[in-house]
Amino acid sequence: MTKLEKLKQNGEKITCLTAYDASFASIIDQAGIDVLLVGDSLGMVVQGQPSTIPVTLDDMVYHCQLVARGRQKSLLIADMPFMTYSTPEIAFDSAARLMQEGQAQMVKLEGAWVAETIEMLVERGIPVCGHLGLTPQSVYTLGGYRVQGNKEEDAERLKEEALLLQSAGASLIVLECLPGKLAAEITASLRIPTIGIGAGKDCDGQVLVLYDMLGITVGKKPSFSKDFLQETGSITTAIVAFIQAVKNGTFPSLEHTF
Ligand code: KIV
Repeated sequence: MTKLEKLKQNGEKITCLTAYDASFASIIDQAGIDVLLVGDSLGMVVQGQPSTIPVTLDDMVYHCQLVARGRQKSLLIADMPFMTYSTPEIAFDSAARLMQEGQAQMVKLEGAWVAETIEMLVERGIPVCGHLGLTPQSVYTLGGYRVQGNKEEDAERLKEEALLLQSAGASLIVLECLPGKLAAEITASLRIPTIGIGAGKDCDGQVLVLYDMLGITVGKKPSFSKDFLQETGSITTAIVAFIQAVKNGTFPSLEHTF
């Protein structure tokens, strides 16, 4: 059983923040986070791009290398950027680079159409995290950054997709922008853990984009996020406060839930 599965089994919430460089990775790691995610959100918050789509595999490898230098104990997950997993073969080459050059310990892929690819990667020893709900690389087919799974038929499809990713061998699934009730049902149906972002308190863990939880969001602040820096006054205490709030179940509250 993996450490994350053990946390789920023991009912202990999993904590995750995004990181893009060595200094923040080191601060977050030493604060005791369970998972560091090198998210392709770096395209928006670091590079100033309008979406995650322009992020390249070279960008991700570079930022993984930076984060890996600051990491000691936490699990390092790397996003596979747009079109770097369009076939199982391409995915294998991309994941190998993220693990060999970037020192990632798990890779994250968006959508349910990747089930066959997940199976292929896992068979070859590459741990995989799925990502369902609002999948930002599909922003132009989803019609914007909005809550998913509100209609009954979409909710049923998402439940099936989560089970499909689990059967394919995923170790973990990120659920983004789902009604809290639906995320709770999906979480209860799975053996593997879920990590929510805008998906309510009943996921097995929570992830936030670092810049959002430090209140340095450019543009509209996501309603599901919380500025932990405002109430703590320092970066280190903000990160510790996030970890404590997730572990003791006080974040996310109803005001951060769809
Ligand atoms: O890219 C990212 O930061 C992510 C999180 C929002 C889960 O995928």
